Amino acid sequence: MDEIRDQFIKAMSAAGTTVYVVTTDGTAGQHGVTVSAMSSVSADMDDPTLLVCIHHLSSAADAIMENKAFAVNMLRSDQSHISDVFAGRLSEAESKFSHLNWHKLKTGVPILSDALVSFDCNLYQVERVGTHYIFIGGVVSIHHPSEGDALVYSKRSYGRFQGIA
Ligand SMILES: Cc1cc2nc3c(=O)[nH]c(=O)nc-3n(C[C@H](O)[C@H](O)[C@H](O)COP(=O)(O)O)c2cc1C
Repeated sequence: MDEIRDQFIKAMSAAGTTVYVVTTDGTAGQHGVTVSAMSSVSADMDDPTLLVCIHHLSSAADAIMENKAFAVNMLRSDQSHISDVFAGRLSEAESKFSHLNWHKLKTGVPILSDALVSFDCNLYQVERVGTHYIFIGGVVSIHHPSEGDALVYSKRSYGRFQGIA
């Protein structure tokens, strides 16, 4: 049974994915987690929608459900250290949120001021699939401060997008 699981994880690691920090704040407090599982869902709704998949044991998961809002902050290629902090890979002697610049848009959740782009979302829908929640967010505002390149993760390493031509 574990064989297909291991094959699945190895196969998925071949994908090149963009890296995001999902943040939330509200009555459940401030939480953030690094994710690669993000997708646009639909631009043609009252609020455009996107989805993120987060493990059910992540403290961010329960907080998003209680706070009913989250932001998706797309990291730049020079921000892999931020990905590591929010993935719990570095020491957390201080808050994950310290030493970074944050501001708020409409929902009041933390927006990373120098992310490549940030989506401010109200929680629209939640589905639990096995170990993970799929959070669908309705995007109410977008912060697009810089023109840099996205941070990419593939084969368990960070990199940056490079055009072919
Ligand atoms: C590049 C990268 C991508 C990740 N993508 C996801 C993801 O899509 N969903 C998820 O639940 N965890 C993902 N993780 C793992 C979480 O960031 C990690 O488990 C984190 O420690 C959870 O934090 P918490 O348990 O303190 O909330 C990813 C980690 C890295 C480094």
